[in-house]
Amino acid sequence: MNAIAPAPNLHFGCGPNLLPGWINIDRVARAPDVRTDIDLTQLPWPDASVAAILAEHLFEHLTFAEEQQVWTEAARVLRPGGTLTVEVPDFEWVCACFLAAQDQFVDFYQTGHPDHYAGHGRALDQRWGILQTMFFGNQNGAGQFHRSAYTEAKLRALSRLLGFAAIKVEKIFNKGGQALRAVLTR
Ligand SMILES: C[S@@+](CC[C@H](N)C(=O)[O-])C[C@H]1O[C@@H](n2cnc3c(N)ncnc32)[C@H](O)[C@@H]1O
Repeated sequence: MNAIAPAPNLHFGCGPNLLPGWINIDRVARAPDVRTDIDLTQLPWPDASVAAILAEHLFEHLTFAEEQQVWTEAARVLRPGGTLTVEVPDFEWVCACFLAAQDQFVDFYQTGHPDHYAGHGRALDQRWGILQTMFFGNQNGAGQFHRSAYTEAKLRALSRLLGFAAIKVEKIFNKGGQALRAVLTR
């Protein structure tokens, strides 16, 4: 008798963070066994066949056209009860921090330098340090550009538009700033 393959778990935009038991997908292989042959805008899985999708700090890297395709594909392949976990910078928080921060430009961005934050490091009270990378990406490698942004209200609207059954949104501090971590249930 043929065993039925378990529904896969997909890790979108994994970067160097390989998760055992998951299919780790990225446009760039930053670790061994990363699948670079899978196009997130055209997933090679049938409808309702995937158990879970994890996308941490990926969606803000997609173009407007790509973000529509990837969200739609994620909703299509997840099985009922399957989860889509998304983490993105909290754009409302980034904007509020930027407006409150000091406008002291001290240095150019240093490509390849460990402190590529334009002389201000991770200081959140300066506009041209890490805060500017939350708008534009840290630009230190292929794909490391931000092209879109998310608020809690946008995540909730996407969940409704794509017909998810439930969404939980948490605000956490990660990667030097406030992020939205949402779990959407199909
Ligand atoms: C900021 S990194 C996040 C990496 C990891 N998820 C983490 O949280 O540390 C964004 C990743 O998304 C990948 N990426 C960007 N656009 C992509 C696309 N269209 N398809 C697949 N991966 C993409 C980049 O190559 C990069 O590894």
